[in-house]
Amino acid sequence: MKRMAGKVVLITGAAGGQGAAEAQLFAAEGASVVLTDLAGAKLAELSASIEQSGGQVAWCEHDVRGEAGWEAAVSLARKRFGGLHALINNAGTISRQGIANTQLGDWHRTMDVNLTGAMLGMKHAAPAMRDSGGGSIVNVSSTAGLGAHYDAAYTASKWALRGLTKSASIEFVEWNIRVNSIHPGQILDTAFYREGQAGHAEAGRRAVPMQRQGTPLECAQLVLFLASDEATYITGAEIAIDGGYSAGGALWLRNKLRDALAAGHVA
Ligand SMILES: NC(=O)c1ccc[n+]([C@@H]2O[C@H](COP(=O)([O-])OP(=O)(O)OC[C@H]3O[C@@H](n4cnc5c(N)ncnc54)[C@H](O)[C@@H]3O)[C@@H](O)[C@H]2O)c1
Repeated sequence: MKRMAGKVVLITGAAGGQGAAEAQLFAAEGASVVLTDLAGAKLAELSASIEQSGGQVAWCEHDVRGEAGWEAAVSLARKRFGGLHALINNAGTISRQGIANTQLGDWHRTMDVNLTGAMLGMKHAAPAMRDSGGGSIVNVSSTAGLGAHYDAAYTASKWALRGLTKSASIEFVEWNIRVNSIHPGQILDTAFYREGQAGHAEAGRRAVPMQRQGTPLECAQLVLFLASDEATYITGAEIAIDGGYSAGGALWLRNKLRDALAAGHVA
């Protein structure tokens, strides 16, 4: 039995690294997937490959910042597949500026995509999910929603998304909708990762107790679990997927430093 058989799942940012992995995994597990992103050409390509593998897919160009776009995306799910059971608020953007250099336009863009976009998604998808008997919402935050990150707007937006997830989990519990956030660390094969500052990736890898970055498939597997009926008692939770970084990256680095000091390798 496929784990998502009979479910309809809407995934935003589906043309990106994690979103595409989620689209492929959900479709392979029997879900009908509705894929949205700003990047229509990439969605068309991804959708064709999912269809060739026997998956059920619909897609539309969609900017998560606007209500009309959300109405169209949810309506597509209802018309093509008869309802909606899961929403993956995965679309995201970043500013890469500290507070001192933050431009107001970048601040608003980051908040609008990462926070307002997810709020609008829940506002428009939740009634359709209620009408389908309930379901699951997964909000993709970040380790930047658990601790400090050099990007001020990104950090603020991802902490706010974590808080919004808690509110939503209580508001929608009566509609049988679970709402959880996930908090990835550095994830390979994404535009976020490719476009990062020089040295950021390697420094990040060395600070992770597992000594490696994560993959889009590993994130997709967590999202699939939370969206599936295997997670029916989990709501309002925040789950890090970061190789142990948020649990104890500082402790792990301190132990390395302790060993190096004891061996006389650092002054
Ligand atoms: N890659 C990482 O290292 C990392 C780490 C922590 C959290 N995240 C989060 O993971 C999520 C997925 O990103 P990814 O890692 O796949 O990176 P990615 O850049 O490959 O994908 C992000 C996607 O979001 C889309 N998008 C951006 N603005 C949009 C808008 N206004 N409307 C609709 N779509 C929009 C982009 O077109 C892109 O396809 C994001 O929310 C990101 O903040 C990523």
